Amino acid sequence: MRILVLGGTVFLGRAVARQALAAGHDVTCAARGTSGKPVEGVRFVRVDRDDPAGLTAIGGEFDAVVDVARHPDHVRHAAAALAGRVGHVTLVSSGSVYADTTVAGQRAGTARVLAPPPRDAEDPWRDAEAYGACKVACERIVTEAFGADRVFVCRAGLLVGPEDPSGRFEYWVRRASRGGEVLAPGAPDEPVQLVDVRDLAGWIVAAGERGLTGTYDGTGAPTTRAAFLAEVLPGGATPSWVPQEFLVEQGVQPWSGPRSLPLWLPLPEYAGFMTRDVTPSLAAGLRTRPLAESVRDTAEWLAGAGPGEGQRIGLTEAEEADLLAAWHAAGR
Ligand SMILES: NC(=O)c1ccc[n+]([C@@H]2O[C@H](COP(=O)([O-])OP(=O)(O)OC[C@H]3O[C@@H](n4cnc5c(N)ncnc54)[C@H](OP(=O)(O)O)[C@@H]3O)[C@@H](O)[C@H]2O)c1
Repeated sequence: MRILVLGGTVFLGRAVARQALAAGHDVTCAARGTSGKPVEGVRFVRVDRDDPAGLTAIGGEFDAVVDVARHPDHVRHAAAALAGRVGHVTLVSSGSVYADTTVAGQRAGTARVLAPPPRDAEDPWRDAEAYGACKVACERIVTEAFGADRVFVCRAGLLVGPEDPSGRFEYWVRRASRGGEVLAPGAPDEPVQLVDVRDLAGWIVAAGERGLTGTYDGTGAPTTRAAFLAEVLPGGATPSWVPQEFLVEQGVQPWSGPRSLPLWLPLPEYAGFMTRDVTPSLAAGLRTRPLAESVRDTAEWLAGAGPGEGQRIGLTEAEEADLLAAWHAAGR
């Protein structure tokens, strides 16, 4: 098949391109080339999607297109430029599209989504809600332009694995390598839900091959934070569970950023965020590898090519030690 990846210079786009090549497809990637490099073996077309005519440099027809766009205008420009010369279309969307993050166990087919923003307020980089709302707009534009009978909307969950630029999973893999007492957020039975980028990429390529259409969550089955840490932490590391009230009191941020605990989200506000019911996705072919493989391969990537001198997120060693000392000093 001839596959076009709109993106392909970073993380998921690169994983899709790599898997499509491995499956024997002819792969074109189109991006500016500023976030990173395309994988070896693809045809790379330099484009700027901010320019309404930016995609005219992409010639030819494609059996399948995969788009990772966040900005609705990028999707509009692609829909116009590719009209009449593409078959199957995958729009990589996000679990951030959902309107209600508090209710656990929701399914993609029935859960309410955010309202798309007014056209003059489309800014996916403003905050998490604006990002989710823009993804809703992207989903609608793609579906209207190409038709629901050709579109696979894949609402990605938390992506982990080698080449992740976000640093979120990396925090835990790095933390594990230091061993000792590990500050674990919240409670052992709280949910964690994620997917290895290579599993999602494999499903996206297979969706193009099989012509899968419809809207699905692109993430694995939920697990508990205790099970997550049991896989991530080596024998010599012991979690100390510190409740969210104490973390909030101490100014620890959830999810990402400096002085944060990545993958931790406050409850009950986010009870629905990492508890999606992915039965339909698994029935539609999503296969997920054991977490131990994601940990091993991420550790190998960090020890080798790694993310470079990027920004680190999470707690510093000193911040974690101070927080644990304060927690124990409070008699716990
Ligand atoms: N990471 C997660 O945990 C997570 C969770 C939920 C959903 N998602 C979704 O999953 C997808 C991840 O995709 P990804 O890993 O490939 O990363 P990404 O950061 O979304 O990649 C964006 C791609 O688009 C290209 N691009 C950006 N602006 C452009 C422009 N003006 N013109 C042309 N190309 C442009 C970038 O390349 P250049 O900069 O080189 O042009 C890059 O290849 C996204 O759709 C994201 O919203 C991710």
